[in-house]
Amino acid sequence: MPHDAPQTIYLADYTPFTHLVEQVHLVFRLAPDVTRVISRIAFVPNPDAPDGPFFLHGEQLKLIEAKIDGQPVTPELSEAGLTCPVPDGPFTWEAEVEISPQTNTALEGLYMSRAMYCTQCEAEGFRKITYYPDRPDVMAPFTVRIESDLPVLLSNGNPSGRGEGWAEWTDPWPKPAYLFALVAGDLVNHPDRFTTRSGREVELNIWVRPGDEKKCAFGMDALKRSMTWDEETYGREYDLDVFNIVAVDDFNMGAMENKGLNIFNSSAVLASPETSTDANFERIEGIIAHEYFHNWTGNRITCRDWFQLCLKEGLTVFRDQQFTGDMRSRAVKRIDDVLNLRARQFREDNGPLAHPVRPESFVEINNFYTATVYEKGAELIGMLKRLVGDEGYAKALDLYFERHDGDAATIEDWLRVFEDATGRDLSQFKLWYSQAGTPRVRVDEAWSPGAEGGTFSLHFRQETPPTPGQAEKDPLVIPVAVGLLSPNGDEVVPTQVLELTQTSQVFQFEGLATRPVPSILRGFSAPVIVERKTDAKERAFLLAHDTDPFNKWEAGRGLAKDVLTRMVSEGADPAPAYLEALEAMARDESLDPAFRALALRLPSQDDMAQTLFDAGRTPDPLQIHAALRHLRKAVAEHMGSLLSDLYDDMAVHGPYRPDATDAGQRALRQGALALLSLVDEGTRAQAQFEAADNMTEQLGALTCLLEIGAADAALSAFRSQWQSDRLVMDKWFGLQTAHAEPDKAAQVASRLTEDSDFDWKNPNRFRAVIGGLAMNAAGFHTPSGAAYALVADWLIRLDPVNPQTTARMTTAFETWKRYDGDRQGMIRDNLERIAATPGLSRDTTEMVGRILGA
Ligand code: TRP
Ligand code: ZN
Repeated sequence: MPHDAPQTIYLADYTPFTHLVEQVHLVFRLAPDVTRVISRIAFVPNPDAPDGPFFLHGEQLKLIEAKIDGQPVTPELSEAGLTCPVPDGPFTWEAEVEISPQTNTALEGLYMSRAMYCTQCEAEGFRKITYYPDRPDVMAPFTVRIESDLPVLLSNGNPSGRGEGWAEWTDPWPKPAYLFALVAGDLVNHPDRFTTRSGREVELNIWVRPGDEKKCAFGMDALKRSMTWDEETYGREYDLDVFNIVAVDDFNMGAMENKGLNIFNSSAVLASPETSTDANFERIEGIIAHEYFHNWTGNRITCRDWFQLCLKEGLTVFRDQQFTGDMRSRAVKRIDDVLNLRARQFREDNGPLAHPVRPESFVEINNFYTATVYEKGAELIGMLKRLVGDEGYAKALDLYFERHDGDAATIEDWLRVFEDATGRDLSQFKLWYSQAGTPRVRVDEAWSPGAEGGTFSLHFRQETPPTPGQAEKDPLVIPVAVGLLSPNGDEVVPTQVLELTQTSQVFQFEGLATRPVPSILRGFSAPVIVERKTDAKERAFLLAHDTDPFNKWEAGRGLAKDVLTRMVSEGADPAPAYLEALEAMARDESLDPAFRALALRLPSQDDMAQTLFDAGRTPDPLQIHAALRHLRKAVAEHMGSLLSDLYDDMAVHGPYRPDATDAGQRALRQGALALLSLVDEGTRAQAQFEAADNMTEQLGALTCLLEIGAADAALSAFRSQWQSDRLVMDKWFGLQTAHAEPDKAAQVASRLTEDSDFDWKNPNRFRAVIGGLAMNAAGFHTPSGAAYALVADWLIRLDPVNPQTTARMTTAFETWKRYDGDRQGMIRDNLERIAATPGLSRDTTEMVGRILGA
C-alpha cells in the first residue's frame, strides 16, 4: 500500500467540525475474522463551523453500504476516511462496515486478546471501528447493541436490554468517540456496591478471566476509596447506575477511562499478596483512582482537541497524586513523584524529544502521551495551587466544573476559571504550557550583619535552555518555597513562597541573629533544577535538621551525587562524612521507615549519567555502574551490624497487608537486605527467598541474589512455581535483563527472547525483556553495541505488529547525545537502520526522526 508522506497537525489550524452529532446508534455482530459494525448517526449542521466538505474518519474499514436518510450513497473513500455530499439540514447517516478484530495486533480499535473482544479508542482508534468524526470536540449520546454468543457483553453507560445472544447499552452522557468501549468474553465478575452521597445506588464490577477472581478485592477497595475521596475532596459524584472495570492481558498502556467501562491492563488491576509487590499494590491503587477521577476530569469535561491533552491528564495525575498522598504518606509520595519526574520527564525535557506541556504540532498523537504532558502537566497544577492558595484552588475547581460541565475545553478555559475565581492574572504563568525545557534556577546568597539583626539575601537567576524548535526562552513564574534554619537547627523563618517572575531577582530576610542556612525549593515547589554552591557539611546539616521532609531527603540525595561524582571523575573514595550522615539517618527511629528506605536508595545510573553530563562531563556508564557498586559496598561495610538489626527489626509479623505502614517497613528491610547481601554472600537473601509468603519479599530476595550473581537456582525455582501466572512471569523475564551484569545483559536478553514463553506480541512481556534491557544502563550501553543492535532488531520486528508500543520504546535511545563518539555513532547507525525500514509506521518514523534531530 502506498504511504502518503506523514502529515503534521497544528494547534493553530483548529476548526470546529461541520456538523454536530445528536445521537449515535451502533450494532456489533461480533466474529473474530469478520465483525460487522452497523451505525446510525443523526447529524445536524454546526452553526459555529465554517462551510466545508463533510468528512468522516475511517481507517482499515471495508465499507459494505452507506445511506443518507435511507437512500444509498457512494462516498469517496481515501486511506484516512470518506467524503460525501450531504443535505443542507439535519440528516441520518447509516453505514455498514466490516472489520477484523482477530488480525488487529496493534491493540487499537476493536481487537482480540485471547478469545476476548475489547476496544481501545483513545486517541484515534474509533476510526478503525466505523466511519465517524473521530475528534474529541464531537460529543454525542450512544446506544450500542452487541450480538454475540459470549456470556458477558459490555459497553458504556447503563444496561438497557438483554436477550439470548445480544445485549444493549445506553450511555446518556454525551461523549467523544475516544471514550467508546466494548468488551465481550467469557468473564467472571467481582461485584460490589456503592451509594453516592446523594443516594444513587451504583453497581460495581471488576470483570476478569476465570481464575483471576481472587485478585480483585484490592482493586475494588481502591475503587470505593476513590469514589468516596472524589466526593469529599472535589465534591464529585458518580453519574451512572453501573461502573465496570475489565482486566485485559494485551494492552498498550496502563488503563483507559472509557465512560462507565474502564479497561485495564491486567497488570494495573489484578493484585494478590502472593503475586504482587507492595509497589504493584500502590501502582494499582493509583491507576484505579486515576481512571475513576477521569470521569469528571476528562469525561464530563473533555478536551477540545488533542493539543489540550494535559487539560485532562495533568489534572487527573495531580488528583491521583493527592489521593495517594492522602491514603499513604504525603512526604513519601512527594519524593516518589519527584523521583519519577526527574527520571522520565527531566530526561525527556533535556533531550531531543523535549516538547511543551501543550504541544503545538504533532504527526502521531499517540507519541504525545508523555511524561511531559502527564507529569509536568501535573506539576503545573501543583504550582497553580501554590500560587492561588488552597482556597483559591477550591473555588477555581468548583467554577471549572460548573462552567464547563459537558464541554470540550481548552487550557485557555482552564486558566480563565482561575483568573475569574481568584482575580489573579495568569498571562505569564501560561508560558509554562508553551515553553519546553527544564528551567535552571541559580541561587547566590549574601549575609550582612547589622546592629538590629543581619540581612540575608537570596539572589535568583532563572534560565531555560534551548529545546528543539525553541531557541529563545522567556522568564517564567516560579514559586520557590523557602525556609531558613539557624546554625543550631531551629527554623527561624518558616516556609514562604517566593515568586520569581524575572530573569534575575533578589529577596531579603531581615532581623536575623545569625547567618541562616537556607532550605530552598521545599516540597519541590516547581519543576526546575536548582544550581547552588554548597558543601557536604551543609548538606549533612540539612539532612539532619531540615523540617521539610522533601528537602531533608534532597540533601541526602545531593550528598550521594557529590560523592559519586567525585568517585567517578577523581577516583576518590566514598566520603566518610556521607557514610556517617547516612548512618545517622538510617538509625533515626523518629523517621518513617518508608522515608528511611528512600533515603538509603542511591541515585540511579541514568540519573548519575545526566548529572555528570550537566556538569560538563561525558558519562561512562560502566564507570557509573562500578562507582555505585563500590559505594554500596562501602555503605554496607560502614553500617555493619546496624543493617542486620534493621533487617530483623523491620520484619512484619502477621498476615500480609499492602498498607503504607507495613509496606514502608518492608521497604526499609529490603534496603537493608540489598546492602547486607553485598557482605554476607547472599545468605539472608537465599533464606528469605525460600521462606517468603508474599511477592514483595520473594522478589526482593531474588533481586538481591541477581545483583550478586547467585540467582541461578532461585530463578528456576521461581519459574516452576509461577509458570502459569503471566503477570508473575513478566517479573521473571524483566528482572533478569534489568539486573544482568553489564557485559552479559545483551546475551541474557537475547537468550530470553528465544524462550518459549517469550510472547513478544504481548506488550507486557515485550516491555519486560526489551524494556528491562534498556533500563539496565550499563548493560544497554555495553561498549560492543550488542544491546543497541538487539533493541533495534526487536523494534524493527515489532513495528508492523504494534506501532504504538514500538514508538514508545524508541525512547531507550533518547539520551544518546550524552555519550561518547563511539556510542553515539553506534546508536545513530541503529536509529538510521530503524528509520530505513520499508513501511515503517508513522508512529516510529516520527519518534526516530525526532530523536535523530532530523
Ligand atoms: N487516557 C489513558 C489514561 O491516561 C491513557 C491511555 C490508555 C492511552 N490507553 C491508551 C493513550 C492508548 C494512548 C493510547 O488513563
Ligand atoms: Zn489519564
